[in-house]
Amino acid sequence: EAAEKGGYPHFVIKEINEQPEALRRALTGRSRDGQLHLPELERMEHAGLLNNIQRILVVACGTSYHAGMIAKYAIEKWARIPVETITAAEFRYCDPIVGPETLCIAVTQSGETADTLVGIRQAREHGAPVIAVTNIVSSAITRLADAVLYLQAGPEIGVVATKTFVSSVAVLYMLGLYLGQSRGRIQPEQMREFLAAMDQLPDQIQRILDQANSEGDIIEPLAKRMASVNSMMFIGRGVGYPTALEGALKLKEISYIHAEGFPAGELKHGSIALLDPETPLVGIATASHVYEKVVSNIQEVRARDAHIIVVATEGDENIRQHADDIMYVPDTLEIFSPLLASVPLQLFAYHVAVARGCNVDQPRNLAKSVTVE
Ligand code: G6P
Repeated sequence: EAAEKGGYPHFVIKEINEQPEALRRALTGRSRDGQLHLPELERMEHAGLLNNIQRILVVACGTSYHAGMIAKYAIEKWARIPVETITAAEFRYCDPIVGPETLCIAVTQSGETADTLVGIRQAREHGAPVIAVTNIVSSAITRLADAVLYLQAGPEIGVVATKTFVSSVAVLYMLGLYLGQSRGRIQPEQMREFLAAMDQLPDQIQRILDQANSEGDIIEPLAKRMASVNSMMFIGRGVGYPTALEGALKLKEISYIHAEGFPAGELKHGSIALLDPETPLVGIATASHVYEKVVSNIQEVRARDAHIIVVATEGDENIRQHADDIMYVPDTLEIFSPLLASVPLQLFAYHVAVARGCNVDQPRNLAKSVTVE
């Protein structure tokens, strides 16, 4: 097993460190002459299954659900098709309005999650075309799908999803760009800009990891200081919101610290009552069109004496006056920021859990894939 961990103490940290490589594999060969290529969808295109799409439903659970939430922002932005992301366990029982004009995207790294399978089977019965996003070749979801987009992330042994999250988000971005392109919604020069920014993401994640592995980095010592708190809050806006949800989920799954993610603007409508000096807050404040709004939400919290940790974009000096600790990530387009902002949050959750002596590769009560409803 030591050999399988490749010199790392745990699979999770190995897999976090494999993210640049996983992402590179997901992106390789997709862009040519300023165009995005997804040959996996050609059959669906030829069969006319993508011509009349009026609406998209993304169906997923857990971390894959958060990837699906990010996809909503990307697909709506690029393809201007309304997207609803729904947790699979609810989807099945909400008498969903689906038909041939509703494209269903199933996101499941294992391809075996029962809730997702059951929901997608039902959507198919109503005539909905299905695209599966999964890491596992020939998994059950692939047999329910008209097309499969594989993550190619390599095996993920740690129960909590890390590299499969990053790869799922990347594949969903490509799907969004593809739909935007095929509907003529993205100008060629815009497409070049998106593809160029996407191409840089693996190296940018590598930089975050190199920084975290270097002497004097703040994440591990910060995690040790936070290891005895009872509760933490995560806030973000726009794509920072699902990033906050995923940051909170990683922390609770792996360290058993109570953690919740909120849309930053929603906090004041109730949950701010939970904040006190013993409840640290993580704010996702990377460069975005809602940056000022997030900062003002952070200020509201600071007024309650909470310890403030912020994920910010390199070069943002302004944030120093609003934060006790800052995790910097490289600059990218706003829409791609979750891929970078998630990485320090994964590392933070991991180091907190290690400091608490938790079983980071196999947290209690969790399974890698839940094959019962
Ligand atoms: C389980 C795992 C989660 C995972 C979820 C969905 O609950 O513990 O980490 O996100 O299943 O898994 P899937 O394979 O469908 O992406």
